[in-house]
Amino acid sequence: MQTRQELYVRKIKDGSVIDHITPGFALDVLKILGINGKDGEVVTAAMNVESKRQHNKDIVKIQNRELKPGEVDKIALIAPNATINIIRNYDVASKKVVELPAVIRGIIKCDNPSCISNSREPVEPQFTVDQREPIRLRCYFCGHIMEREDVLKQF
Ligand code: CTP
Ligand code: ZN
Repeated sequence: MQTRQELYVRKIKDGSVIDHITPGFALDVLKILGINGKDGEVVTAAMNVESKRQHNKDIVKIQNRELKPGEVDKIALIAPNATINIIRNYDVASKKVVELPAVIRGIIKCDNPSCISNSREPVEPQFTVDQREPIRLRCYFCGHIMEREDVLKQF
């Protein structure tokens, strides 16, 4: 079925479609992926469009680039219900829902300057997920709370 939304964001031949992004967060997803439009990548984004599911959603389509697992893990922090579709020759070659693990290791650092994970010792930052959406992380070492905006500042 051709939905109205597909008239605005047409199908791509090869690349990645990040679908079911929390409405309003497409630009943050692009930021997390380091896409600012200056490298010539062909990118389309739709914001606050109708979704088959309950709520509205954002969508990002990146042509000729397949997202890597590390990138998918970062997206899960701000869009825990996103779906990553890898497109090859117009077909959905793989589809997976991002996963937000109960413990986050090594992706972001603790904002507390005196946290042991910020000292010179080789301590990998670690957080437990207090709340999924909007994300709230608790530092395993010092208890410092990181909210969504704090997380986004690191990308
Ligand atoms: N898509 C695309 N280009 C293609 C194939 C798919 O841009 N060549 C997009 C679709 O527009 C959709 C997403 O990739 O946003 C997933 O495609 P598909 O699995 O066909 O859609 P749905 O069944 O609606 O996906 P879901 O069940 O995950 O909502
Ligand atoms: Zn800490």
